[in-house]
Amino acid sequence: MAETDKETREKVLVTSALPYANGPIHFGHIAGAYLGADIYVRFKKMCGADIIYMCGTDDHGVAITISAEAAGRSPEEHVSINHALIKSIFNKMNIDFTNFSQTSNPTNHSMSQHFFKRLVENGLIVQKETEQLYSRELDLFLADRYVEGTCPHCGYEKARGDECGSCGAWLDALELIDPKCKVNGEKPEVRKTKNWFLKLEDRAEWLEGWLNEMQGRAELPWKKLVVSEIQGYLKRGLESRAITRDLKWGVKLPQPYTEDGKVLYVWFDAPIGYISSTIEYFARKSEEDPGNYSPDMWKDYWQNPDCKLVHFIGKDNIPFHAMIFPIMLQGVDEGYILPDFIAGNAFLNLEGRQFSKSEGWYIEPLEFLEKYPTDSLRYYLCSDMPESTDSEFQWDRFQQAHNGELTNIYANLVNRTLKFISTKLDGKVPSYKRDWKEEQWVDNSIHNKIMTAPGAIGELYLNRFMFRRGLQEMMILAREGNQYFDSRAPWKALTEDRAECEHTIRTCLRLIKTMAVVSCPFIPETAQRVWAMLGLEGNVADCKWCEAAVDTFRDGARLPEPEPLFKKIDNKQIAREKKKLGGGAEQPKKKQKKQSSIPGIKKFVEFDDFAKVDLRAGRILEAENIEGSFKMLKLKVDIGLEQRQIIAGIAKQFKPEDLKGRTIIVVANLEPKKLMGLESQGMLLAAGGKKDLQLLTVTGDVAPGTRVS
Ligand code: 2FM
Ligand code: ZN
Repeated sequence: MAETDKETREKVLVTSALPYANGPIHFGHIAGAYLGADIYVRFKKMCGADIIYMCGTDDHGVAITISAEAAGRSPEEHVSINHALIKSIFNKMNIDFTNFSQTSNPTNHSMSQHFFKRLVENGLIVQKETEQLYSRELDLFLADRYVEGTCPHCGYEKARGDECGSCGAWLDALELIDPKCKVNGEKPEVRKTKNWFLKLEDRAEWLEGWLNEMQGRAELPWKKLVVSEIQGYLKRGLESRAITRDLKWGVKLPQPYTEDGKVLYVWFDAPIGYISSTIEYFARKSEEDPGNYSPDMWKDYWQNPDCKLVHFIGKDNIPFHAMIFPIMLQGVDEGYILPDFIAGNAFLNLEGRQFSKSEGWYIEPLEFLEKYPTDSLRYYLCSDMPESTDSEFQWDRFQQAHNGELTNIYANLVNRTLKFISTKLDGKVPSYKRDWKEEQWVDNSIHNKIMTAPGAIGELYLNRFMFRRGLQEMMILAREGNQYFDSRAPWKALTEDRAECEHTIRTCLRLIKTMAVVSCPFIPETAQRVWAMLGLEGNVADCKWCEAAVDTFRDGARLPEPEPLFKKIDNKQIAREKKKLGGGAEQPKKKQKKQSSIPGIKKFVEFDDFAKVDLRAGRILEAENIEGSFKMLKLKVDIGLEQRQIIAGIAKQFKPEDLKGRTIIVVANLEPKKLMGLESQGMLLAAGGKKDLQLLTVTGDVAPGTRVS
């Protein structure tokens, strides 16, 4: 890209809420804060924007220390395991961050300390002695998730000491009605202690003015969901909030303010993580490619008034992104930009209830994605994205979206057109009618629709963060294509008027190409498969949005043999999935019809012989393809005591990037063996055949090296 182009390109900086590194993310998180962002970024790239997408894990805070303790790990170990796990889910979902960092990285520690110092210098952070809840038994000031009580705003009885999980209010533990210590149920006492406070009230007037401006602008007014929440805070009056905590795990206060046993509140350093992730990215790029990058380039985004900052978050994060973080950014007075738009979403529930892993009301994302295509999930979650009100994942709706929409409409048009070309038109691109001119396209109803669709989807919806509408419009184009195909009956015209038949099919090709381009942000893998089946070279993602409708086919060019895009999901499968919710384990079928497909039981072995096999839980640290092998992958696996290289025949079923972070079961005392010229120091366990191979794992968290018995 020439320098001049670079300068005129729209600059956009996108962030998604940093997920806590205390367990896997679920579909609610994905639909709330990541899928929309990924669609937006993919779309803007196709429009030529200079856009970066920053995220990472939120590694600090009480939630992490509590869950690390429960898992028997240090917080460092815990966050690094969960970071890898969360990253593998994002990879599998094709959520494509520019950088995915961690708030426990040194860059974020020093940036957060810098922010703290600047805000103290600018009089926005002060130290005060106040009353706090204190546990005598634990000898600890209790804050955040160490306390539970009734929310003073909505009456929810299990509100935490810093946030209400029901109404999203940002709380001070002292506000809770009838507070209890989460660790031992003790009723805490109130004691005096010193902490550092962010003086929100000093910026109330500024915040109100800024918010009114963002709400009132004609081109892109802020969402009601976001604005009304902050207006509520302003009405009640802003107050100083403690931004330090009595904990060991977190960002230490900087010199000269260091104080033993105190760290910054997780919500202080978390949003700074967006900046640190950007700094880290450009530091890395400038090492890899010093000709094109420099370490200071993060400032071209964060401190450039021409760059647009967009936050994608769930509604529970609104106060932090529309009030606290902007006050911090403005308060350091170093030229940081403020959010141009906050794409705050409501919640996605699961079949009428909140996702809850402990109650089994949960779908394991990686397990789900072993069985169903990523794009079917992306499509479905986008079609039910909780853009303004809560929505829910329903298995029946998922099946309908996959079978009734993606397969019957989108894939059907692709399949029937390409099949027709393959079987009736010698597999070659047909021509438009000879007397038919491009200028006529605008007068021709279907061509008119093809040409206006990209603008409608992009300008009207995606640029305005209306992803559901954008997706609907994309499907309207697919429906139009099917109706056009039906109404023109090319199978009849084939013998009666060949030129007419060819014209119809060529028009369908143009429509399908346009559909592939405009569906690319939503369902990128499928769009690429369609692109390849159309015989088009390179990546559909590289096609400019404004050229989506351009007919780039060459008369007579040979097209590849088409393949079906999707397989339908049957009712029995969906019934089984529903049964699994809430812990109802899948019932094994009593009568196996195809007895013969199950291999017979091997000869019995003595227990002592079996006990010789040393099975361990292992965590995959690295996975890569092996040159010259389609079947084998090279894995580096942590089995607690040591790291092993394992050569496994799973390349056809798993992509290397999807394996990182996964817990597997390893035969740890198998004699090493050479495979593909490499030593395999163990074996992993898997079940299934070529098409449905599944890796053996455990249902909860276990540390690498744990014996399997
Ligand atoms: O609510 C959450 O899951 C937080 N970890 C979100 C942090 S977003 C940001 F500010 F870092
Ligand atoms: Zn509440």
